[in-house]
Amino acid sequence: MKVLVTGGAGFIGSHIAELYHACGHEVVVLDNFVTGRKENLPPTIRVVEMDIRDRSVEAFIRREQFDAINHHAALLSVPESFRFPVEYADVNVTGTVNLLEAAVRAGVRVFIFASTCAVYAEDAVQPYTEDSPTAPVNPYGASKLSAEHFINAYAAQHPALRVVVLRYGNVFGPRQRVYGEGNLVAVCAAKLLAQDVPTIFGDGSHTRDFVYVQDVAELNCHVLERPVHGTFNVGTGIARSVLEVYTSVARAVGTERAPRYGPPRVEPAHIVLSPTALMAAIGWQPQVDFDQGIRQTVAWFAVHSTPVQ
Ligand SMILES: NC(=O)c1ccc[n+]([C@@H]2O[C@H](COP(=O)([O-])OP(=O)(O)OC[C@H]3O[C@@H](n4cnc5c(N)ncnc54)[C@H](O)[C@@H]3O)[C@@H](O)[C@H]2O)c1
Repeated sequence: MKVLVTGGAGFIGSHIAELYHACGHEVVVLDNFVTGRKENLPPTIRVVEMDIRDRSVEAFIRREQFDAINHHAALLSVPESFRFPVEYADVNVTGTVNLLEAAVRAGVRVFIFASTCAVYAEDAVQPYTEDSPTAPVNPYGASKLSAEHFINAYAAQHPALRVVVLRYGNVFGPRQRVYGEGNLVAVCAAKLLAQDVPTIFGDGSHTRDFVYVQDVAELNCHVLERPVHGTFNVGTGIARSVLEVYTSVARAVGTERAPRYGPPRVEPAHIVLSPTALMAAIGWQPQVDFDQGIRQTVAWFAVHSTPVQ
């Protein structure tokens, strides 16, 4: 298939673009490099520097005659989304609608979208299922849920367009950006390897659902190639505490340093996703053991200098 991967120069998108390429698909990456990096992709993958909000996106997609669009381009920092909500709505909502409109006009058949567990209501029963109530409490989550609504509206109007919405838990792995204290695994790996220690906000007991990026890339292959459609959680169903993650990274780095502790932040205490819908639909479940994924991530950070943003 000929596939456009938006955000393909970023962390998750680059793994997907590489795997699609390795599986024999013709891949083109569209990215504006606001956070993406050219070094994330091999030179064999064609890259087009463009913004998803650009009006010329439609002419480009028509000209290229893509079979599928895998849409990973977005702004995704929760704290930043409070500071720049208009920018977040513009990129994550308007940019997505711009792509959708171009997709239906150009006769694209598949649209895969990277969404997030940040769309769920904090007080809903966990593990979240795809039917759990949604009520995002930050502009990032709100922008992703708005984009989902547009995608589902387009799917209802255009039955020939197969749409898959993937609500990711916390994805980790090589090439993840290090910014603020947001990406726990990347921050712990980068700081511990640099003989520094990360700050854990609160007592480290709050939990998230961590899924390894290679599993996520493989899932994106499955949903591209198989006739599945709908909205799915992408997680392990296992809640891991911040302290557990820190300990695993420290073990992989080979240090016994204790973390630094800071005041608790206003954030959900626990997030865990039920992975059963994807299992039932396509028999998919994550394959990479958590500690193994951590070791592979640390090994990557040990040999790649990564900008701390
Ligand atoms: N990393 C996670 O744990 C996680 C969790 C849930 C959802 N997601 C979603 O997965 C996707 C990828 O996230 P990531 O972690 O790889 O982040 P990333 O920042 O590494 O990748 C995002 C990519 O999108 C590009 N981009 C941003 N704005 C653009 C624009 N206007 N036009 C063109 N390109 C643009 C960036 O340059 C970058 O390459 C995002 O949609 C994000 O919301 C990620």
